Amino acid sequence: MEMTPTLPATHRARNRDLSRHIAPRLRIASGSVATLFFRMPFPPLRDQIVIVTGASSGIGEAIARRLAACGARLVLAARRLDRLKTLAAELDASGTRVEIVGCDVTSAEDRAQLVATALARFGRIDALVNNAGYGQRGPVERVSIDSIRNNFETNVFSLVALTQLVLPHLRAQGHGRIVNIGSVAGRIVRPMSSVYDSTKHALEGINDGLRGELKPFNIDVVLVRPGFIRTEFGQVANAVSASALGDAGPYAPYVEGFRANSQKLRSTAGRPDDIARAVEKALASAYPKTHYNAPRHATFFLFLRWLLPVRAMDYFVRLRKG
Ligand SMILES: NC(=O)c1ccc[n+]([C@@H]2O[C@H](COP(=O)([O-])OP(=O)(O)OC[C@H]3O[C@@H](n4cnc5c(N)ncnc54)[C@H](OP(=O)(O)O)[C@@H]3O)[C@@H](O)[C@H]2O)c1
Repeated sequence: MEMTPTLPATHRARNRDLSRHIAPRLRIASGSVATLFFRMPFPPLRDQIVIVTGASSGIGEAIARRLAACGARLVLAARRLDRLKTLAAELDASGTRVEIVGCDVTSAEDRAQLVATALARFGRIDALVNNAGYGQRGPVERVSIDSIRNNFETNVFSLVALTQLVLPHLRAQGHGRIVNIGSVAGRIVRPMSSVYDSTKHALEGINDGLRGELKPFNIDVVLVRPGFIRTEFGQVANAVSASALGDAGPYAPYVEGFRANSQKLRSTAGRPDDIARAVEKALASAYPKTHYNAPRHATFFLFLRWLLPVRAMDYFVRLRKG
């Protein structure tokens, strides 16, 4: 009679331990592999309901026009309601279903109203484009701490708070997309622009963390990094920074250098639609890229940032007097 070989008790216990450790890891790994191949489909752009903040001018307005041309249903937000009304009338006339909401993104009440309006009008939200934001200039020493707080409040904290409001709806429906408008300034800080640039650095961090956190829920998080784009951005930044620039003390000659450099670079600026096209790709693609850089000079600056040692990059962006 053939005997079935039995393992000694210590071996059996060790095997049980191993399978207890390995089985859950295999399950997680196969789950991750499965999510690579089997994802709940994301609706095509023509069927999407998209919230766009900061749609009253510049990049946000261009995003609204482009998404409308693709057939998306839109919820547009900004503080200047008159501008939104004009845009909505134009988009309505071309057959787009669009809702506008007067919304200061720094107000918790306004943010709640924005999400409630989107759900009441369209019944769901597929994507949020976090675009509202502004820049400011001046040497760190001369920018008031309140101005720095306000910049972070609009560009970072409000963006996070609005995202927090939208996420439960995206998770419940099993799909969604968050598109954040960052900046090349989120990777390259320029003297005299440290405050604004650091808000975009913070956004890079939030964006990267969210991307991992939301992957299991089939929610993609995409960062679009514009380079220089011709919008009202420069005028707004100058207005916000009037006191820091006007009373720059020992930094005054460098402020002039900054102005001259900015002017030179602005002449190579791209169009708002360059960024709107990147947002369209981020929303239309079944597997969006994690980052879109536009226009071409943005890719070039980011390549230099990757290539050059820190001091060489410092030299590249350093201000020269006069
Ligand atoms: N232009 C560039 O060179 C450039 C480069 C890199 C990144 N970006 C980023 O692109 C985004 C759009 O800027 P833009 O160039 O299009 O400038 P813009 O023409 O000045 O537009 C900014 C938009 O943000 C809105 N906004 C600002 N603060 C707001 C608030 N508290 N609540 C609600 N909406 C607010 C403005 O609307 P209301 O004033 O009507 O509220 C406006 O619609 C910003 O995040 C900016 O940082 C721009």
